[in-house]
Amino acid sequence: MNTQPRGLFLTLEGVDGAGKSTHVQWLVDQLTERGVQVVCTREPGGTELGEKLRALLLHQPMSLECETLLMFAARAEHLEVVIEPALRAGQWVVCDRFTDATFAYQGGGRQLGVERIAALEHWVHPDLQPDCTWLFDVPLDIARERLDRTREQDRFEQEADAFFERTRAVYLARAQQHGARIQRIDATQTIEQIRQHLSRQLDQLVTIRGLG
Ligand code: TMP
Repeated sequence: MNTQPRGLFLTLEGVDGAGKSTHVQWLVDQLTERGVQVVCTREPGGTELGEKLRALLLHQPMSLECETLLMFAARAEHLEVVIEPALRAGQWVVCDRFTDATFAYQGGGRQLGVERIAALEHWVHPDLQPDCTWLFDVPLDIARERLDRTREQDRFEQEADAFFERTRAVYLARAQQHGARIQRIDATQTIEQIRQHLSRQLDQLVTIRGLG
């Protein structure tokens, strides 16, 4: 019998340009320094098949239904091949985006609404939610300015401001609704300020898990 306590599942969310990706590797390094075994991954992607689906999702025009189902197809594979085995083995998983992104982008941005996404969530991971989600939040003009400084933009990054307003609104509503899990981070702060805040939270998580 596996007596290993399950690892924690930590996710990062936010609209494109909110700056979350700057902190992913840093979070992994911080956890490793605190003696935690960490798997770092992302969505869409995280598996060989998932990365192929990611390339399609980011660059191939497709219907909203196809886009939403492919997000969950990649997620089902990711859960089976990477996330669940790691958590069962006691490793912590840091994942750049998860199902909150589908509610925000497809549900809000593309206006699919919550019902079908909730049904897919129930199918693909009825019993799993992240233990902690950091929502990197910035006003749209700042996100847009950061995005415009980046390389060639993908299908999502090219969307109009109204799309990102709707996406952000769903993220913020979910942070209200799932207050115990989703932490809003004011991502207009400096990188150092954000890291100080995250560092305190990591200390708490590690202490709760008896590793500190
Ligand atoms: P990334 O740039 O943060 O790696 O994410 C890739 C894009 O995929 C980003 O624009 C958000 C989008 N996305 C969705 O639209 N729905 C989802 O469920 C996920 C995971 C990502």
